[in-house]
Formats: sequence, structure tokens, C-alpha cells
Amino acid sequence: FGDKKYEHILTSTPVPKVALVTLNRPKALNALCTPLIKELNEALQAADADPTIGAIVLTGSEKSFAAGADIKEMKDKTVTSVLNENFIEEWGNMANIKKPIIAAVNGFALGGGCELAMMADIIYAGAKAKFGQPEIKLGVIPGAGGTQRLTRAIGLYRANHYILTGEMFTAQQAADWGLAAKVYEPAQLVDESVKAAAQIASYGQLAVQAAKASVHQSAEVGLRAGLEFERVRFHGLFGTHDQKEGMAAFAEKREPNFKNE
Ligand code: CAA
Repeated sequence: FGDKKYEHILTSTPVPKVALVTLNRPKALNALCTPLIKELNEALQAADADPTIGAIVLTGSEKSFAAGADIKEMKDKTVTSVLNENFIEEWGNMANIKKPIIAAVNGFALGGGCELAMMADIIYAGAKAKFGQPEIKLGVIPGAGGTQRLTRAIGLYRANHYILTGEMFTAQQAADWGLAAKVYEPAQLVDESVKAAAQIASYGQLAVQAAKASVHQSAEVGLRAGLEFERVRFHGLFGTHDQKEGMAAFAEKREPNFKNE
């Protein structure tokens, strides 16, 4: 992870074990054109495959996290072309990344930008962030998970209001409703997100990934099946070095030395 030069994104490792991916298409407020999504998928998959990386931060600029799918690219598409290319299907690849992803959202997170943030595991918002699903104003509906993930995050009736009116909501509202876990000063947001990612990356990665997978399972299945999934993952961790080490370190009052095995 990290060596490659991209056209629409920047990649770096600001501290050990943390991959930072920055959307970088400022002229279009980080509108998510197809080449950008391809680059983003490539970078996220590289971070997922890199054993030195434990967590990922995805951010944009202070003005805009992402202003949605690229409307200029979409405007001439037809039902035949979107069906043939299965338009937007590849956006979902981000939801298959095993390592935790923190979306650090400053500025606009609209349409596909809001949906992209919701494909991350944690959202931290800069105090001036603006979220929304304005697709209705363009004669379409959210197409990358907005009707499903926003509804699960903020509740049915609130989601209906924002998806049907296209109104934006603030960082503080996002936090009050459980979408954003924390709100930071815009200039502090990325640093704070990297700090949280470093903390996550300091733990045993098998446990971290089991926790992520188990929490996500809660959106897929009923309670009994979800509890069973959790229990199987929990039991499986007792076969790892990191469980022995984590618990021994607690008992011996020292820091654990996790090996991700
Ligand atoms: N696609 C393509 N270009 C976009 C864009 C988008 N989603 N959002 C902004 N831009 C471009 C503008 O066209 C403009 O380019 P030019 O300078 O070449 O004209 C540039 O970015 C700056 O934008 P504005 O001048 O509009 O900036 P502003 O500060 O006045 O307004 C904004 C900012 C409120 C975010 C406004 O740009 C806007 O409403 N953007 C569109 C938001 C939107 O509707 N997103 C949903 C897209 S549909 C979707 O995402 C489908 C899905 O579910 C996957």
C-alpha cells in the first residue's frame, strides 16, 4: 500500500499501521466518477492485503468529502447502459474490505458521498460537514445503499424525510442520530481519525476483524442467527496467540504484544 500514484486519490501512511486515502478531485468537489471509484477500490484492496496495515482512514477535502456520483458522467446513461455495465455495482466493493475503515467527513457528503461514508465502519464528522441524499432532485433515488444504510442508521421516518425532500443535515444532527460517532473541529478531523485508526490497529487484527464482521452481521440476519455468528467468532479467537497474550498481559499488569496470529 502507498507507493502507487493515482489520478483522483492520494494515499499515504501518516503513522505506522494506518492507511490514509484522500479523495482528490477538487474541481468537482470529489464527485465520484468511475475512474475514481476504480482507484479507490484498488487502494482499499491494497491496504486490506498489506499485513503492515491495521486500519484505514478515508477522507476528502475540508470543503467536500464527496458531492456524490458524477452527474455529468451519469446524465446521458440509459437504462440499457446502466443495466449492461451494472452501474454502481463496483461501489459496493468497499463494503467487502475486512479491515476497519473510518470515514473522516468534512464538508459535503451528498448522495453517493453520503453512501460512501456509510460503507465505512465509523464516521467522524468535521463540525461543518453537510450530509444528504439529494438524488430525488435529479429524478432518481439513492443507488449505492442510501435507502438501506441511512434508514438503519437514523431510523425509518427521519430517513424518509431526508431522502424524499433531499434536504441536507448537519454534523451535529448526524451525531445526535447515531450516524457520526464523533464531531471534531474541521482542522483536527483527519488527525483525530488517524489517532483512532492507530488505536484500532494496535490491537490483535484477528479480533478486530472478527468484531467488524460480527457487528456487520447484525444488519444481515435476525438476533438469534447474529448471536450465533458472534459466538462462533468469539470462540474461534480462543485458538489465537493474541487471546492468550491479551489475557496474560492483563493478569501480569503489562502491555500486550499482539502478533495477529
Ligand atoms: N457531479 C459532477 N460535478 C459536480 C458534482 C457532482 N455530483 N457536484 C459538484 N460538481 C461540480 C460542479 O458542477 C462544479 O463544476 P464547474 O465548476 O465545472 O461548474 C464544481 O463541482 C463546483 O460545484 P458548485 O459550483 O455547484 O459548488 P457550490 O459550492 O455552489 O455547491 C454543492 C456545492 C451543493 C455540493 C453542489 O455542487 C451540488 O448540489 N452538487 C450535486 C450534489 C448531488 O446532487 N449529489 C448526488 C449525485 S447523484 C448520486 O450520488 C447517485 C447515487 O446515489 C450514487
